[in-house]
Amino acid sequence: MVHITINGKVVKAHKGEMLIKAIRRQQIDIPALCDHEALEPSGSCRLCMVEITREDWDGWKKLVTSCLYPVEEGLIVSTHSGDVLEVRKTILDLYLARCPQSEVIQQMAEEYGIVKTSYEALPDADNCIMCYACTRACEVLGKSAIAAVNRGRDKKISGPFGEAPPDCIGCLSCAKICPTNVIEWHDENGTRHIWGRTFELISCKECGKKTIAREFADYLIADRDIPAEYFEVCDDCKRADLARKMGGIVDQAKEVAL
Ligand code: FES
Repeated sequence: MVHITINGKVVKAHKGEMLIKAIRRQQIDIPALCDHEALEPSGSCRLCMVEITREDWDGWKKLVTSCLYPVEEGLIVSTHSGDVLEVRKTILDLYLARCPQSEVIQQMAEEYGIVKTSYEALPDADNCIMCYACTRACEVLGKSAIAAVNRGRDKKISGPFGEAPPDCIGCLSCAKICPTNVIEWHDENGTRHIWGRTFELISCKECGKKTIAREFADYLIADRDIPAEYFEVCDDCKRADLARKMGGIVDQAKEVAL
């Protein structure tokens, strides 16, 4: 354990943990879009900036991305200093220009008093903030089906050469982790559509409900040693079956007790 000071309060933190975790533990709200517990921190969105200093820094201080900065003994942290707020406002102003239709960005910007961007809004905005959470999630899963293509303002996330990604397995990790909800997908008539690909969905053999993409299940069976039977029944039916079994055990116990 180390001791750090956050907004004037001395608190304990785990040595080496990222500063953002210690800040959140104090119920202090700071904006963060690219940080996710399932991913290694990347420091892409820059929104989690805080100001740090130390007693032995002789008044010197600096701004750091809290999701990427490990805590250390004696650190003094300000999460809402004047400089921090200025930087956050500028970043949100820029995001609002890049993603003018994003409700997530609009709401965050509004919290910092920005209703309209002071920059020129991107005309054909797709609301992607290029935080790479989607590509990182895909990589963690072992597929790396999508990546950034093009340069400058034309940069975007896509399959190879802008085509439907052949390695995509329809798992939805990218869509679910995207902080601005820009990755389009839908399920229709037993199939899933995402990134220009179509995937067959598995039906629960008990209730018929559609569950996950067949290709995703096949991948987990082959690569993660999950038994194929696991995917035959949906989670709801598994829970119902477990409840029935538990009920049976309780009834048996009662009979024994009588
Ligand atoms: S959450 Fe830290 S840089 Fe995005």
